[in-house]
Amino acid sequence: MKKFVLLVAAILALGGAAPTQSYPDWAYGVPTPENEATAPRDDGTVYSLPGSDGRFTRSQISGAGRKPPADWYPGDHPVMPKIIAAGDPAREITACASCHYPNGKGRPQNANLAGLNAAYMARQLREMKTGSRKSAEPRKHNAQQMVDFAKAMTEAEIVEAAVYYASLRPTVPIKVVETATVPKMRSQEGMWLPHEDRTRQPIGVRVIETPANVDREQLRDPHAGFIAYVPVGSVAKGRRLAAEHSCEACHGAGLRGGIDETPAIAGRSPSYLARQLYDFQQGARHGEMAAAMREVSAKMTAADIVNLTAYTASLKAK
Ligand code: HEC
Ligand code: HEC
Repeated sequence: MKKFVLLVAAILALGGAAPTQSYPDWAYGVPTPENEATAPRDDGTVYSLPGSDGRFTRSQISGAGRKPPADWYPGDHPVMPKIIAAGDPAREITACASCHYPNGKGRPQNANLAGLNAAYMARQLREMKTGSRKSAEPRKHNAQQMVDFAKAMTEAEIVEAAVYYASLRPTVPIKVVETATVPKMRSQEGMWLPHEDRTRQPIGVRVIETPANVDREQLRDPHAGFIAYVPVGSVAKGRRLAAEHSCEACHGAGLRGGIDETPAIAGRSPSYLARQLYDFQQGARHGEMAAAMREVSAKMTAADIVNLTAYTASLKAK
């Protein structure tokens, strides 16, 4: 009897704590010694991409040695502010374009910024500066780097960068594929790439986002897309959940951005959005306008996060 009482108390205590069973490990993609993939090295080869006059080595593409990263398609976008094109080595700010790309496409392990509300983005950068936005996953190094860049930015740079990315049109759509199995994956700095052994595994309760063309993504092609493998039936389940939680009431029609600087979530990286839902739930994002999302995410399970982000990925971006 005493044992039973202790057990009930333990369960109640667990129930009161933050629901860690909702941790979307697939979204953070923290590499382990068993599954880590390393980026291809520069062997001097010069690469080109269709429709671009650029000819770059891998070091030039990524902006190694704190140089500005390659801009494959300068005609695609307005002139970039200096902080985006080149960063500032003196303040250890890496060019925003090296992770978010000149056209705001980004990668699943960072964030796609093209066309987001400018006031929203500026607020996020200020909240990273003051500590009210960070990742709930301390092992996510690039999120910590992002916070460090925001801390080093001036207010003028914050506004300029936000206005620039807000002016861009959403980039290549994500291809959502419902499936029972996925290729076994390896994590390259949080981006999933198919393992060379080409085995498949059950998808389970996960979304697996991976480049549609790995070689082109390794060249940081701003026009190359991503595939999101999602569980069978997840898009329809996500649509029902979104209706139940009235996501559209705040995120706007088609979830393409609402009033009061509420960001668009349609057609954005499911990995990025899933991390945010978990970060709100855990209180790692607790800025000025995060209260609404803390409430919305409070009871979300791992499956809810998969279904909602499978659904939002399937929607057309603004
Ligand atoms: C080293 C890679 C890297 C660089 C360089 C970088 N970021 Fe980020 N950024 C990230 C990551 C990672 C996240 C998402 C963190 C997460 O998943 O929680 C992010 C998120 C953001 C967000 C939040 C988007 C949203 O929807 O809320 C904004 C805005 C942003 N970055 C702007 C910038 C600007 C401006 C610069 C240049 C000063 C920059 N970033 C440079 C990695 C980077
Ligand atoms: C009551 C209004 C409200 C409702 C309802 C709501 N949201 Fe939000 N959501 C917000 C606000 C405001 C933000 C920006 C929070 C901030 O600035 O920190 C946000 C941010 C987000 C973000 C982070 C976006 C980014 O770029 O980082 C995600 C993901 C998100 N919401 C998903 C959802 C989903 C899915 C639903 C429905 C299940 C939903 N929201 C319902 C108000 C709402």
